[in-house]
Amino acid sequence: MSKVVDIHTHIYPPSYIRLLRSRQTVPYIRTIDASDRLVILPSEDTNASTSIGRPIGPEYYDISHKLKFMDVHNIDISILSLANPWLDFLPSDEAAKTAREVNDDIDKLCGERNGRLYAFGALPLSASVEEVCAEVERLKELKWMRGVVMGTGGIGKGLDDERLDKVWGILEETGQTVFLHPHYGLPSEVWGEKEYGHVLPLALGFPLETTIAISRMYLAGVFDRYPRLQVLLAHSGGTIPFLAGRLESCIEHDAHLQKEGAAPRKSIWDVLKRNILLDAVVYSEFGVKTAVQVSGGDRVLFGTDNPFFPPLAGDDGAVPDEWKSVTTNVAALQNAFGTLDGLTEKILGGNAVRIFNLA
Ligand code: URA
Ligand code: ZN
Repeated sequence: MSKVVDIHTHIYPPSYIRLLRSRQTVPYIRTIDASDRLVILPSEDTNASTSIGRPIGPEYYDISHKLKFMDVHNIDISILSLANPWLDFLPSDEAAKTAREVNDDIDKLCGERNGRLYAFGALPLSASVEEVCAEVERLKELKWMRGVVMGTGGIGKGLDDERLDKVWGILEETGQTVFLHPHYGLPSEVWGEKEYGHVLPLALGFPLETTIAISRMYLAGVFDRYPRLQVLLAHSGGTIPFLAGRLESCIEHDAHLQKEGAAPRKSIWDVLKRNILLDAVVYSEFGVKTAVQVSGGDRVLFGTDNPFFPPLAGDDGAVPDEWKSVTTNVAALQNAFGTLDGLTEKILGGNAVRIFNLA
């Protein structure tokens, strides 16, 4: 049995928590009635409602909680990533220094845990492109880093921004994977006026944001120019596996794009098989089957999204140790593949060990 590896699992290291506590606007941590609330989503404004944001406890920043979570769910290795909104909101002149501090903090945390923890580094995307590139190069030298985590905003204009070419080039050259993760969602008007908590922005806004971001990267020809670039998409790629055919057809039928010779050269299906890795955080058998069909059984990887989606307390007030958000994803793999071609084992960890060269 190969190791079980969680490639989608977040942390806010202590230096980042201090930063959030020092702030008054999103993102920030506010103490209301003696309990801390994390307010990070763009739609959450600064009103003083006790339901603003979400409760935040040590599971977000204390590494012993991560290790306990791993033990409860039989996870051997985790590849940590700073959770959203990463360093996107920092003033330009503070970003590079903060990135070095946060990445060093996380690398040190990993080094203290005997090969159970690795990480994707955060980038100072509000700084200059030169500073972003310098951090990418520095991350390559940190022992436990295996790539970078990035939101969909890039350096302010999205991932089809040509100014990012240098960054893609260094990531490709140094063999570091980009873990692309949503945060900004869709404009709040699309959700209407009724109140459904965080359901619509998280269930639909996040995946659509990822879908749009990777489509723009593809349309801008990033994978034509950087054919070895590897991008790991959160939440099984949002809806790109389902909509790839429609994207392809719209490109083929767009007179303007065809006339200008501006259509991407590689097919989207090729990109999905060669440049895209998909996590298996999709909570359904149908979702993981689609992920494997479009990207291949060697390119789909188990994740948990811990510490988000914790179990709620039952009627007796007790909170179960086991997280349904994890067991649902494991069951989806078992139901979809069972022992077929070793797919369940590969997705649970074999693929990650190979791709990220985990000891
Ligand atoms: N909510 C977030 O803000 N981030 C995640 O990664 C998951 C849920
Ligand atoms: Zn996540």
